[in-house]
Amino acid sequence: QTADSLYIINSFAQQFFSKQLFDTEEGQAVALSYLKERGFREDIIQKFQLGYSPRQRDAFTSEALKQQYNAELLTKTGIVAERNGELMDNYRERIIFPVHNNTGKIIGFGARIIGKKENAPKYINTPENEVYIKSKILYGTYFARQSIDKNDECLLVEGYTDVISLHQAGIENVVASGGTSLTPDQLRLIKKYSNNLTILYDGDAAGVKAAMRGLDLALEEGLNVHLVLIPDKEDPDSYVNKVGASGFIEFIKQNKKDVILFQLEVMLKDAGNDTTKKAAAVNIIAESISRINKVEDFTRQQDYIHKSAELLKIDEAGLHSLVNKFI
Ligand code: UTP
Ligand code: MN
Ligand code: MN
Ligand code: MN
Ligand code: MN
Repeated sequence: QTADSLYIINSFAQQFFSKQLFDTEEGQAVALSYLKERGFREDIIQKFQLGYSPRQRDAFTSEALKQQYNAELLTKTGIVAERNGELMDNYRERIIFPVHNNTGKIIGFGARIIGKKENAPKYINTPENEVYIKSKILYGTYFARQSIDKNDECLLVEGYTDVISLHQAGIENVVASGGTSLTPDQLRLIKKYSNNLTILYDGDAAGVKAAMRGLDLALEEGLNVHLVLIPDKEDPDSYVNKVGASGFIEFIKQNKKDVILFQLEVMLKDAGNDTTKKAAAVNIIAESISRINKVEDFTRQQDYIHKSAELLKIDEAGLHSLVNKFI
């Protein structure tokens, strides 16, 4: 009941924001030009139903109230906010990214500031409500489903613009986590579409850390995880704009790593000749391997034990019994 009303308001809002972007002078000058400068084509802006929330403090609110939408529901969507007893727009002078559920209904919005401003968040997101449940949302699933199915692989990126730019480059099997760490629910959602997850994160320390945090969870969900680290200071959006579609595809091909073996490489490099650190690495990797479901994925687990023992230069049978201790 409430859910249906929220979908209706969100859909009305999307149409409003889209109109502001394409059919007003302010929208064209402030927002459409910004999107085009960043390299987004008009057909892709339309496909993802992007919009613009104007400067005027109650542009949307007054329109929605005129259409008799319920004030309480309006605030629930997060598009309208109450300040000192007065209703007004929560997103002003921002690019609007609608967030769709996997049937294409709009469950919320990401609102990005245009350019850089001090003391203002880059994105404002929809607050939790009956239809926007953060831990279960992956941006882009509605547009990615078919392609994930066809490729039997799901690419995972951090942000809205990463998803959209990759689509523009013809890479459509991509969803975004929204910058936060992956939740079990999000991983289960991915697993419904494919067992093969490839994480495309920033090559900086934070990106590696985020990828590693998701790893053990992903293994427990039975996903086959690979990792591609995007070069320093870039994200998939900026990098595909830099090297083009074919350059990006080639980069993924060349740099895709099995995530368990990657984790091992990182730890070994860090350990050097330190035997204590190496022993710790052996333990961590054994535990990671133990998380692979032994019944479902017996051969995969054996394969990891074999490859890891080789990398660690230790006895395979010894690693085998260590893995079993964690199960
Ligand atoms: P980024 O800071 O990498 O932004 O955050 P971005 O996606 O590259 O956006 P552009 O290219 O600068 O326009 C990654 C994701 O983290 C979430 C958003 O989902 C964003 O897409 N995020 C980031 C927020 O929710 N709030 C923020 O203030 C910043
Ligand atoms: Mn980063
Ligand atoms: Mn980014
Ligand atoms: Mn970016
Ligand atoms: Mn073997």
